[in-house]
Amino acid sequence: MVTVQDVRWLRAWFTDHVAEYMTGDADLRRNMRLKDTHTARVGREALMVARGIGLDAASLRMIGTIVLLHDVGRFEQYRRHRTFSDAQSENHAKLTLAILRKKSVLDRFTPHDRSIIRRAIAYHNLPQIPPGVTNPEVLLFSRLMRDADKLDILRLVINYYNAHPDKKNHAIAVGLRESSDFTPEVLADLLAGRIVRSAHLRNQNDFKLLQMGWVYDMNFVPTLKAVRRRKYLEKLRAALPDVPAADAAYATVAAVLARRLREEA
Ligand SMILES: [Fe+2]
Repeated sequence: MVTVQDVRWLRAWFTDHVAEYMTGDADLRRNMRLKDTHTARVGREALMVARGIGLDAASLRMIGTIVLLHDVGRFEQYRRHRTFSDAQSENHAKLTLAILRKKSVLDRFTPHDRSIIRRAIAYHNLPQIPPGVTNPEVLLFSRLMRDADKLDILRLVINYYNAHPDKKNHAIAVGLRESSDFTPEVLADLLAGRIVRSAHLRNQNDFKLLQMGWVYDMNFVPTLKAVRRRKYLEKLRAALPDVPAADAAYATVAAVLARRLREEA
C-alpha cells in the first residue's frame, strides 16, 4: 500500500528532480515548467475522476503516485532532444522508468505495488493499453492515468490553438505544421470510430482530429462528463477549418460522447 509518508517523500523527490532541470536557457525552463504544471494538473484530474468512481483513500494515493511519476522522463527528453515528440526522440515512458530505476525511487514499495506503478507508467502513452493486460488493478490504474492525462492535454492543446502566434509554445504541437487540410487516413480513422494512428499525423489539423478521437478511449464517466462540461469537442472543432469534413468529424465524435453518457446514466 502507498502510505501518506510515501506520498510526502515522493513529492519532495519530484520537486528536487524538477529543480535539477530548472537551469539553462528560457526555452528549456519554459518547457520544464510546462511539464511540472502538467503533472500537478493531471494529479487534480485523476483525483476528480477517482473520487467520482468512488475509489478509497489507498487507491487515491496509488493513482497520485503514478501520476506524479508518469512524466519524469519528459524533463530529460526535452533537455536531450529539445522536443516532446517521442517519434523524433525516444519513448518518454521508457525514459521515465529508466530514471526511476537508476534513482531507486520505487525501492520503498512492495514488488506488487512497484509492478502496478511501473506498468501504468509504461502504458500511459501507448495508443491503447495492450489487449493482453487482464490484471484488474493494472487495468484500473492505467485507465485512470490515461483519462486524467487526456483531460489535461486537451486543456493544454486548446490553449495552444487559441494562443496569439507570438505566444505559442511550439513544443506543444510536437513539430507538426499548420495546414488548411487533413490527412485522409486520419479523417477516415475518426469517422470509423477508431483511435487515430499517430503514424498518419502530418499536420496540426490531424493532431486536432486525433485529440477529438480520444473520446473513444476514455474509460470513466467523470472523464466524459468533464469533456462535455468544458466543451472540449466544441473548442477543438472551432480550431479546425470551416469545411464539411470538420463538421462530420465533430458530429461523429459528439454523437459517441452523447451515446456513452446516455448509456452510463
Ligand atoms: Fe507522458
